[in-house]
Amino acid sequence: MMIEVRYYSKTGNTATIADAIAKQAGVVAKPINEPIYGEVDLLFLGTGLYAFDIDPELKDYILTLNPDKIKKVVVFSTAAIVKSAYEKTKKHLQAQGLTVSDDEYHCPGHYMILRKGHPNGEDIKRAEQFARAILG
Ligand SMILES: Cc1cc2nc3c(=O)[nH]c(=O)nc-3n(C[C@H](O)[C@H](O)[C@H](O)COP(=O)(O)O)c2cc1C
Repeated sequence: MMIEVRYYSKTGNTATIADAIAKQAGVVAKPINEPIYGEVDLLFLGTGLYAFDIDPELKDYILTLNPDKIKKVVVFSTAAIVKSAYEKTKKHLQAQGLTVSDDEYHCPGHYMILRKGHPNGEDIKRAEQFARAILG
């Protein structure tokens, strides 16, 4: 199974979770400016949430993804206040014709005085468990 992990992370929280997921899949997590070559069975795509939305850069990136080459996308996210960036990310992925898994991963991510210490060890452990469950 060909697996890729890509993330958009302004302050490193989502990158931490991306690394945990990628490790379980035996691949290296990369930022979204790293292109995807060839066919992919599963793309884990992660982001933080900024000003109650995903970043325009991630929206532009999603427009470059080829639904004929990527079988399924699994979304993961971090945020300080909202419960998830899943719905916002899914909307753009589906508009691009991509299949999005119903399963998502989300954990708190610190921002200024909010959610200090997150993602923490427990968040990372849950991300690893999530990845293993998805990968079967
Ligand atoms: C510019 C900026 C805007 C943010 N806006 C929100 C927001 O609207 N809602 C929210 O829940 N968290 C918000 N956050 C917190 C981030 O979603 C949280 O810190 C997340 O873990 C960041 O992920 P990253 O470190 O991968 O960039 C914001 C963070 C930044 C830096």
